[in-house]
Amino acid sequence: MRIAIITGATGGLGMGFVQAIAAMDEIDEIWAVGRNARKLSELKDAFEKVVPVEADLAKDGISFLEEQIKEKTPDVRYLVNNAGIGYFGAFEKMKREEVKAFCRINCSVPAELIAATLPFMQKGARILNVSSASSFQPNPYLSVYSASKVFLKNLSRAVGVELKPRGINVTCVCPGWVDTGMLPRTKDGKEINYGGMISVEQVVKKALKDSMRGKDMSVPGLFAKYFRIYSKVMPTGLIMRQWTWSVRKYL
Ligand SMILES: NC(=O)c1ccc[n+]([C@@H]2O[C@H](COP(=O)([O-])OP(=O)(O)OC[C@H]3O[C@@H](n4cnc5c(N)ncnc54)[C@H](OP(=O)(O)O)[C@@H]3O)[C@@H](O)[C@H]2O)c1
Repeated sequence: MRIAIITGATGGLGMGFVQAIAAMDEIDEIWAVGRNARKLSELKDAFEKVVPVEADLAKDGISFLEEQIKEKTPDVRYLVNNAGIGYFGAFEKMKREEVKAFCRINCSVPAELIAATLPFMQKGARILNVSSASSFQPNPYLSVYSASKVFLKNLSRAVGVELKPRGINVTCVCPGWVDTGMLPRTKDGKEINYGGMISVEQVVKKALKDSMRGKDMSVPGLFAKYFRIYSKVMPTGLIMRQWTWSVRKYL
């Protein structure tokens, strides 16, 4: 059984990955991981290959998924580490539980899932880790989010080098703003402007194409590409000041 595992399958980008991978002949089943039973069932109705895996990754969901993998011993062709949570606001206002959940879902879960699936991957398998353009520089008021995405980016690229001899490709996906439910549209009645926002389809199409080409990074859209170069050449302190200035009206 050749499978794809996609976390956060009930969200914007996750659903996009489900749709694109469902069209691939090489995949028999898509294990769609999410917490929302209703959304998972709708996904199953829309795509025959979907096998809903109801699991809360902030809790013990990863153990359940691991048990399923060990029991069914599938040939894992794709692992898409896509589930992630965001928080905009001052670090000192975050609850301890929120900080913990962030580190768990955005960092530990993808790392543990790579470890859990590697024994079930063969040559030609692909791992896609959805990080963010937030990994290109530290973002005040998105502090834990941007730090968590650096973790995922560095893990992705380093493990990718280690897995090259096994013929397993690892691609880190770093979009800027993407039009999904993750982004609040207003803050205290003020409309939020997301510069250079792109669609789910753009991100997914490029990510899968870059994975096929064996690339370790996938940076979709002009905004994220520009930002990546900008953050390499400009002083980090200056970038953080500019960012803080640009988000001040939403604080
Ligand atoms: N949207 C953007 O602008 C943007 C930009 C760069 C990177 N990204 C990254 O893209 C990825 C997907 O985000 P999205 O924009 O598609 O957001 P989204 O629509 O909010 O989807 C997030 C997904 O993660 C799942 N999830 C959250 N907490 C979970 C938990 N405890 N256990 C299991 N699943 C959980 C959600 O499932 P539920 O339905 O159960 O909540 C949902 O399916 C994230 O890693 C995000 O950081 C997004």
